[in-house]
Amino acid sequence: MKTNVRDYWDGRYRTNGFIYGTAPSHLAKWTVLNRWFERGQKVLELGGGYGRNGIFFAKNGIEVVSLDISSVATKMGILAADHANLSNLRLLEGDIHSLPTSIRGEKFDGVFSNFCLHLAEWNAVREFVFGYFEYWLNLGGRVILSLLSTKDPDFGKGERIAKNIFELDDGRLQIFFDRSDIRELFGNTRMKIESLKHAWELETIVSVVRNTPFWIVVAKKQGDPDG
Ligand SMILES: C[S@@+](CC[C@H](N)C(=O)[O-])C[C@H]1O[C@@H](n2cnc3c(N)ncnc32)[C@H](O)[C@@H]1O
Repeated sequence: MKTNVRDYWDGRYRTNGFIYGTAPSHLAKWTVLNRWFERGQKVLELGGGYGRNGIFFAKNGIEVVSLDISSVATKMGILAADHANLSNLRLLEGDIHSLPTSIRGEKFDGVFSNFCLHLAEWNAVREFVFGYFEYWLNLGGRVILSLLSTKDPDFGKGERIAKNIFELDDGRLQIFFDRSDIRELFGNTRMKIESLKHAWELETIVSVVRNTPFWIVVAKKQGDPDG
């Protein structure tokens, strides 16, 4: 049975609250530590949930627009951002397949997405990589992603739809990536991969501890080769 994505995530957040804890993710900490994003820059986060990474970036002086499909998570994030008195963080409800008109025309120094693109439609992932990232980013801007790995213990669960893509019993798709998939995605774009690392994160999801293998991708927008 096909699940409505918004209902699924609203239900998950309504039942479990701060599913991934309130600390920032490994990827967000690693991003700030390596100064991939810096104070004064402006970043778009895709699938930002209740804003644990956005809040962390905002506290580090980075202006953030965070987008998530779940209205429940977005409201939780807005409350948390108000509580922390952060005016440089905007949390918006929206689907990454059709980005909101309220940010149309805005440019960013970075696009950040922690464990969300594996949930997108496969063609949309390609569109984001080939089109939207280039569209949103200023020259020299970076996209920083964590992507599910084919080494994930959940790899192969459900029905195989295509190479490294599986449909779960509830109809949700999950895309897993190997190194060559990622290189191919960025292959003919103006986004040059600066760093591609396989990493592990000890996560607590609701109350289950999980050592998640994943890819960290950092790619930078290059100048127009013809321009
Ligand atoms: C695994 S969670 C990660 C949340 C957040 N990035 C974090 O690190 O806490 C995936 C998030 O993607 C959001 N999401 C799923 N599909 C989406 C879509 N099509 N558009 C926007 N957000 C989506 C979910 O609501 C959920 O918050």
